[in-house]
Amino acid sequence: MGADDRSSVNIMIHNAWYAAGLSVDFEVEKLEKRTICEKAMVLWRSAEGEVVAHDDRCCHKRMPVSAGRFLEGGVLECPYHGLCFDSTGACVKIPSAPDAPIPKRARLLPFTVREKDGVVWVWPGDPDAIGDIEPIDTPEIASPDWDTIHGDLFVKGNSVLMVENVLDLTHFYPLHGNSIGQYADTQIDFEVETGEIGGSGFVRTSRDVDSYPQSEGFQDLLIHEVADSSSSQTVIGPGVLIAKRTNWPAGGRAKNEDPKELVNYHLFAPHDRASHKYTYVVNMPKNQMCGSDPNKRGVDRAKEFFPSVFEEDVWAIEMQQKMCEVPNGDYAEVNLATDLALVRGRKMLFDLYDKEA
Ligand code: FES
Ligand SMILES: [Fe+2]
Repeated sequence: MGADDRSSVNIMIHNAWYAAGLSVDFEVEKLEKRTICEKAMVLWRSAEGEVVAHDDRCCHKRMPVSAGRFLEGGVLECPYHGLCFDSTGACVKIPSAPDAPIPKRARLLPFTVREKDGVVWVWPGDPDAIGDIEPIDTPEIASPDWDTIHGDLFVKGNSVLMVENVLDLTHFYPLHGNSIGQYADTQIDFEVETGEIGGSGFVRTSRDVDSYPQSEGFQDLLIHEVADSSSSQTVIGPGVLIAKRTNWPAGGRAKNEDPKELVNYHLFAPHDRASHKYTYVVNMPKNQMCGSDPNKRGVDRAKEFFPSVFEEDVWAIEMQQKMCEVPNGDYAEVNLATDLALVRGRKMLFDLYDKEA
């Protein structure tokens, strides 16, 4: 399985913004561990409110400082020999040599962090490669006018497989045939668009249908049983896919009558080439209720409903991953006409990977 073999997805892209979590996940002086692109990181929000990320290996003898504790003055104490670090990663105290000068190299190596619109992003690669690449805008997550829920899944599969899964609605039947998918959905026409957002490439598919009977899952989440519906999936770089859907009652599109909206951010952070953390963030306009219970917010229904749907995706991705590890031999994937967005998405990601190499 060579890196030049585009029928396998054994790639990992370091130079990208990956979500370490949502802002609400980072409390002041609460230690969080992440592994992103094989980099073991410790993250915390400093007393000043800034989220910082550093190499989790203590510069002394590799003890993970994420197992340490904070002392007076916001310094992090390593639990092995007690070296202390400030939020810049600099060593500020060595208990066994209190009067000796602290070596300059005694520090935790930093990673670049950006917190924006309620998301904490980390760049695990070369900081010089950031240039004008911006983390995406996620206005719904930050806005008081939207309800948001989120959750994490750890997936034993390359993150490219999950990017492709979420970009590809033709798997809604049969994989999600008991929830959000129906057979007819696989035949809906779609458009594919490519371009650039915030310094990153994107590939988008979009679908518009009118007077279209909705699956049971979407009837519950977005109310209208037969709907005019617009949906899009936009993959931006290796770590983000935005899925949007608006459903109107049949015939309601032109007048924008009673729109029901759903914006899902699917955030992928590679752990290594064979696994990743998948964070889903579901957003609906504030107090948009669900179909099955007029007193329940749509996002609360989504919190009950989506994890089992996403587990179906995880099941598929983990099976694919095992097959990606079987040597190719004469095997080659077949791309169907409906795989156009996947082909473009995979090319975009392989181009990023090649550029980095
Ligand atoms: S390993 Fe951290 S102080 Fe020794
Ligand atoms: Fe899926």
